[in-house]
Amino acid sequence: MKTNVLIAGANGMVGKALVKELKKNKSIKLLTPGRNEVDYLKIDEVENYFKKYKPKYVYIVAAKVGGILANLKNKIEFFEQNQLIQMNLFRCIQKFKVKKSVFLGSSCIYPKSAKQPIKEESLLSGKLEETNEGYALAKISGVRLAKYYSEKYSTKIICPMICNIYGTNDNFNFSDSHVLSALIRRFAEAKKNNSKTVTLWGTGSPKREFIHVKDAAQSLIFLMKNYNDVNPINVGTGKDLTIKKLANKIKKIIKYEGKILWDKTKPDGVPRKLLNISKISKLGFKPKISLSDGIKQTVLEFQNLKEEKFSKNIKVNNFFKHKKYWYPLSLPTYGSAEIKQALDSMSKYRTTMWDKTKLFEEKFSKKVGSNYSVMVNSGSSSDLLMSFSLIDRRLKILKKNDEIIVPILTWPTHIWSAMMAGLKVKLIDVNVKTLNIDILELKKNISKKTKAIFLVHALGNPCNMDEITKLAKKHKLIILEDCCEALGSRYGNKHVGNFGLAASYSFFFSHHITTMEGGMITTNSKKIHENLKYLRSHGWKRDMKVKYKNNKIYKNFEFVNWGFNCRPTELQAGFGIEQVKKINKFNKIRKNFFQIFRSKFSNNPNIYFPEVEKKSDPSWFSIPIILKKNSKFKRDDLISYLEKQGIESRPIIVGNLQKHPVAKLFKELRIKKFKNADYIHNNGIYIGLNPMIEKESFNKMIKVFENFFKN
Ligand SMILES: Cc1ncc(COP(=O)(O)O)c(C=O)c1O
Repeated sequence: MKTNVLIAGANGMVGKALVKELKKNKSIKLLTPGRNEVDYLKIDEVENYFKKYKPKYVYIVAAKVGGILANLKNKIEFFEQNQLIQMNLFRCIQKFKVKKSVFLGSSCIYPKSAKQPIKEESLLSGKLEETNEGYALAKISGVRLAKYYSEKYSTKIICPMICNIYGTNDNFNFSDSHVLSALIRRFAEAKKNNSKTVTLWGTGSPKREFIHVKDAAQSLIFLMKNYNDVNPINVGTGKDLTIKKLANKIKKIIKYEGKILWDKTKPDGVPRKLLNISKISKLGFKPKISLSDGIKQTVLEFQNLKEEKFSKNIKVNNFFKHKKYWYPLSLPTYGSAEIKQALDSMSKYRTTMWDKTKLFEEKFSKKVGSNYSVMVNSGSSSDLLMSFSLIDRRLKILKKNDEIIVPILTWPTHIWSAMMAGLKVKLIDVNVKTLNIDILELKKNISKKTKAIFLVHALGNPCNMDEITKLAKKHKLIILEDCCEALGSRYGNKHVGNFGLAASYSFFFSHHITTMEGGMITTNSKKIHENLKYLRSHGWKRDMKVKYKNNKIYKNFEFVNWGFNCRPTELQAGFGIEQVKKINKFNKIRKNFFQIFRSKFSNNPNIYFPEVEKKSDPSWFSIPIILKKNSKFKRDDLISYLEKQGIESRPIIVGNLQKHPVAKLFKELRIKKFKNADYIHNNGIYIGLNPMIEKESFNKMIKVFENFFKN
């Protein structure tokens, strides 16, 4: 019968290496539960697991670990979680009579000023290094607890203390990676980006010892067989080197030719922690992989991270750094799940519009509460097809030259689409307080000729839909809604986009969700839905579920309407399927950040934020900042200050389109002056509001504004 061996922490770096090594032993049945099967922080779950699987040997390599930064930031978590893991596991090891266990710790548990190379006896002989005290205290308690269990119950738990581990399955996330993997990533990225310098933490003078994870795993297996003492035993290579030397070694292996700068304001950690390995050496264990070979292998693994590993090991977003701004207008919101979807479509040669598009449309309809959705290749295409559906020869909703009202403060393609469809566009000014269509202007401008209103919920701030629907009803006007900046925004109990005949959405890179490029049209009308499908795809019948009567024409090549080709790819739809799951989470963060910013500066005498209608619940697209008339500074002063500080800004949508050179070409843009749009043009900016922005960057951005307002 096989022996049950539990690896607590099998999904970590050491855990994975252990699994690989132990699999070679055919008499072992490996137990490698994930966190969803057993959470070692919870005693009930650990007990149930031990009761069920009765492990005979246990490797405890589950731990909360990280580099200096993570340790400093999360002292409580490092302390509490490591305590809980060991307490729960030790208790069950004793209770369920496990034959022997290995409890892994690290060289950080030794005092800061321990004599080098550090002998096991120096444990608890002096003060600890502050930067990892939480982790060290917890692990020291573990070592002692193992001893107490041995004294009282003869439970066998041995405690190897290991030097820095690196290698296969290393963690390359800067937020919690260790020095060696962090250096590999820094140099690899610097080389890729042609950066002239790489700045590293501290002085570079501390010395460290490194062991490859494969050697580490083999040492634990070796000790499980050969070591029985209650006192800890060191595991290392017996050789250390300065961080400076290590950095140069990695730099050379990566062939990075820039310069290394040392940020001496950052902590170094302990000056040296070389382990005395005479105890384990005497038992006969020797690591096999040299540091140079190990680094070469790790560099290769980092560079060749396949999609699989890429998605598991790396928060994709961490790779992205805007070249110029630390607070850019937008950041990527997609990750490995979206990339996987796209790769899946490509590897199956299903790249053109197919099942994923349909699935995304269904999910999207559910999300916004509309009956039908039609995905297209951009928000602009959404506006275009909606406009063309109004003048479609089969639907006969409007005629060419019928008047449609559009607000002036919007994205240009919104206006062009109605013009291109042959409708007579009447532009109307916006309300300077809300940035949305001015209701009084709207009332004044509705005439017998007016047949439709094409709204936009600017920057996610819903228009007053009570007033507008009342007017539309009274004058029998069709409403179209441009919701390209308003995914997640609600008015009353409805998602915007459900107040008229159809609504457009954009999934461009910087929008609430992204499919890289992409758009959606939603409608509650079956007829419009059908028509949009014709307009999206050439006017052919192929995408419709209809019976074919005409036998003389190939059924896939029968054309019943005119149309464009505005189809999305399956790669985009795959992105959409993943992104739609994240809408709520993203929008919660956007909302929270917006509120923090607004509440900080709402009393500032120089600026104002858009007013929100009573029944509106906006899902903000960005953070608009508009200067008051008597502001003590000019908008351009603010822009250049932000630019200098590394914060990207831009006009509110495009400002007043009348002011752009294109106005020369179209009289619709010249018929009158729009004084409010002008005001926004001259006094408004917006900055990014992205769910991926780190809290620290967001707070730093607020500080920049505070400083600007102070001066
Ligand atoms: C209000 C509005 N409408 C339409 C669009 C066009 O969307 P897309 O860029 O996907 O073509 C945008 C784009 O930002 C927009 O803000």
